[in-house]
Amino acid sequence: MKLLEPFNLGALTLPSRVVMAPLTRRRAGHGKIATSLMADHYAQRASAGLIISESTEVDPRSAIDVPTRPGLFNADQVAGWRRVTDHVHLAGGRIFVQLSHLGRASHPLLLAEGAEPVAPSAIAGQGNAFTREGPLPFPVPRALTLAEIPQIVDQFAHAAILAREAGFDGVEVHGANGYLIDQFLRSGSNQRTDDYGGPIQNRIRFLLEVTEAIAAIWGVERVGVRLSPWNDFNGMADANPVETFQYAAEALDQLGIAYLHLIEPVGQKRALAPRLRRIFGGALIVAGSYDRDRAEAVIADGTADLVAFGESYIANPDLPERFRQGAPLNPAIRSTFYGGGAAGYTDYPTLGAQEVVL
Ligand SMILES: Cc1cc2nc3c(=O)[nH]c(=O)nc-3n(C[C@H](O)[C@H](O)[C@H](O)COP(=O)(O)O)c2cc1C
Repeated sequence: MKLLEPFNLGALTLPSRVVMAPLTRRRAGHGKIATSLMADHYAQRASAGLIISESTEVDPRSAIDVPTRPGLFNADQVAGWRRVTDHVHLAGGRIFVQLSHLGRASHPLLLAEGAEPVAPSAIAGQGNAFTREGPLPFPVPRALTLAEIPQIVDQFAHAAILAREAGFDGVEVHGANGYLIDQFLRSGSNQRTDDYGGPIQNRIRFLLEVTEAIAAIWGVERVGVRLSPWNDFNGMADANPVETFQYAAEALDQLGIAYLHLIEPVGQKRALAPRLRRIFGGALIVAGSYDRDRAEAVIADGTADLVAFGESYIANPDLPERFRQGAPLNPAIRSTFYGGGAAGYTDYPTLGAQEVVL
């Protein structure tokens, strides 16, 4: 099975093409610090070809008294993540950090006192922010001034420097799912009239500046970018997604980064992966409802190099071994996806453990 064969991804040799997708689980501790429970969770999944961490905040204005998503903007957070990366490496794995900025998909209660959500334009996302007072609608964000944009690029760069100290193996830029970079990319959330808005050549500028800044620290061979052309999550929309994302693939190809990671559900009618494949010279990772056979097929037909698994990885720490044996998968329990402790997080059984129980 090609899915279980090694693959050279940029600077790394992966033992298989099975990738653990980034998965927000809202279990970071006070200070947005990764916990030892998180270290256990990731180390359990170290047999993945590559682990991509959950979305990790670069915004130093994030409220640190809200135990939820982890951050990477101070030394305590470096120490927390160091514990995670050490555990993963000891268990034989490799882990990239996914760096993100929420932009408009935030709320004043998720930010430090007095801070407000920012975005390319003052257009609210649709949906709710998960706050200590429960789900609250995304407010209208403040449009970033031209002078503020390089400051946010610097925040990504700072997080990338901290990611090295924390022992990660590389960085994935979170350009997907309706967060700040995606808000710049897509025309529905970006109505700026300066160099960062209007034609795609401008809307992509922020993504390219962030990616270049991170690549300057890590080298292109340890940097990837995640994009979600079809995701309308948080009220995202684009007038011409094919043109937008084709252009993005061309521009990222010019940078020479290690991989492009595309969220594109299996069976997507206007599937972009085959087209982007011809444009982008690095590795292509696809994600979105894959099972073993569909993953094998998309690799065998040459459309993708690697496949990332989300829900299957939540519930199956030993996913590559299960694929190898054709073993059944544990079902993922949705009620424990976000927040809580070990239940539904570090207690999903491996095959060996199940045999003992049986
Ligand atoms: C609980 C949960 C949390 C997620 N968190 C993130 C995240 O932090 N960053 C991200 O890019 N995608 C995130 N995703 C999307 C997954 O990475 C993946 O693309 C999606 O689940 C589709 O793959 P699947 O069908 O194999 O689950 C999340 C998905 C789930 C179910």
